[in-house]
Amino acid sequence: MTASRKKLFVKTFGCQMNVYDSGRMIDALAGEGFDSTDTMDEADLVILNTCHIREKAAEKVYSEIGRIRAVKEERRKAGKDMIIGVAGCVAQAEGQEIVRRAPVVDMVIGPQTYHRLPEILRNARNGAVVETEFPLEDKFDHLPAATPTRLRKAGPTAFLTIQEGCDKFCTFCVVPYTRGSEVSRPLSAILAEARRQADAGVREITLLGQNVNAYHGEGDKGRGLAGLVEALAAVDGIERIRYTTSHPRDMDDDLIATHRDIPELMPYLHLPVQSGSDRILAAMNRKHGREEYFELIDRIRAARPDIAMSGDFIVGFPGETDADFEDTMDLVRRVGYAQAYSFKYSPRPGTPAAAMDDQVPEPVMKERLAALQALIEEGQRAFNAALIGRTLSVLLEKPGRKPGQLVGRSPYLQPVNIDAPDALRGEIVDVRITSAGRNSLFAELTGDAATTGRLDSDGPGAAGPTMEAVS
Ligand code: 5AD
Ligand code: SF4
Repeated sequence: MTASRKKLFVKTFGCQMNVYDSGRMIDALAGEGFDSTDTMDEADLVILNTCHIREKAAEKVYSEIGRIRAVKEERRKAGKDMIIGVAGCVAQAEGQEIVRRAPVVDMVIGPQTYHRLPEILRNARNGAVVETEFPLEDKFDHLPAATPTRLRKAGPTAFLTIQEGCDKFCTFCVVPYTRGSEVSRPLSAILAEARRQADAGVREITLLGQNVNAYHGEGDKGRGLAGLVEALAAVDGIERIRYTTSHPRDMDDDLIATHRDIPELMPYLHLPVQSGSDRILAAMNRKHGREEYFELIDRIRAARPDIAMSGDFIVGFPGETDADFEDTMDLVRRVGYAQAYSFKYSPRPGTPAAAMDDQVPEPVMKERLAALQALIEEGQRAFNAALIGRTLSVLLEKPGRKPGQLVGRSPYLQPVNIDAPDALRGEIVDVRITSAGRNSLFAELTGDAATTGRLDSDGPGAAGPTMEAVS
């Protein structure tokens, strides 16, 4: 039976939700006889899981298809075939256009149709298939569960999508169009998935959603994300919970209190504000002003004083003046982010902002981005440096850069490098921070783990990533 199995190579771009979806696609195709591989040359099926959030991300797809076409050609010479699929947000946004521009593509699969992959794949053998419907049935009801083997291979941390889509319609953003309107999964389905993850050795879960704190799933007793976090904290084996990405308007008192009351919920919060200017926030349709954001941060910090704040910023939104940009710089100084992501505005087809007057010239955007990133970096270094000498708990995830090292995450999400035996992988250990760089910390083991290399007990813990990550 193994001899007839085929190889699947999935390349993921964009956010963590795509990382999660790629895993679910691998699960869906396992039943069709595909095992995943890290080598494209040996793949019978290649799937690109794509991102459409900014133009640069979307264009990567076509250069990648060019590379795959060459590999396919080589394979053909050796008498082997290769099927090429484009999934994710570019697939949803461009559909048929992809096959027109790149006829080598055999299937185009929108994010809401992954449960139909086996059928789409069968049809693709008779000519290109484009599947970008938003079907009535829920893909999560039809996707097979992850195999324990795949979960185990992924290590002690895992993503879990709890919500998809967005109803906010920020004027720059394609998400409401590519991922559709907000849909939350039922609480019981999420708990069942979390239990399976925990059984496979997962100790830290990052809950994902384009608007994760707007979560309102069946069975949440009206408590939204707060109720879900509380229920997940009670799952045996789950010791750390994070969530991303959230909108300031959906940060309710119940959820803020959860940051105070649930030790499993890590003290890190990605809460994008995009701009510090009231005028630009209004033009972006963010539905709140800068003072409301400051007030919200105050309430969050009152509940969890050590919380590490993270955010996203866009520079050069249409009409952004020097004064507007200065408001953003001022907001960044006042909030004191532990880290933040910043981007030049990129006009996206079909979004209201793309049609606005006063598009900001590229050199101005470039200059503003450099100034903002320098400021963010300064804050990040200061945040990291302040941790030197502190004892933090770290979930050791994987081998570090140097032999004999493991790397894990601090409660505030920085990677922490530690000299530690491999036997400690998957454990939560106390470490003392000895030095700090821009993006990571260095530490030594303390307490039981330092002397025995093993742990009988563990403590509360660490922090989580953002929707911006993969490539
Ligand atoms: N241009 C630049 N950045 C964007 N983002 C979303 N849409 C755009 C766009 N059109 C950024 C936002 C969002 C993050 C995921 O990507 O900051 O929070
Ligand atoms: Fe896009 Fe986020 Fe705004 Fe939704 S809330 S439209 S996903 S930026």
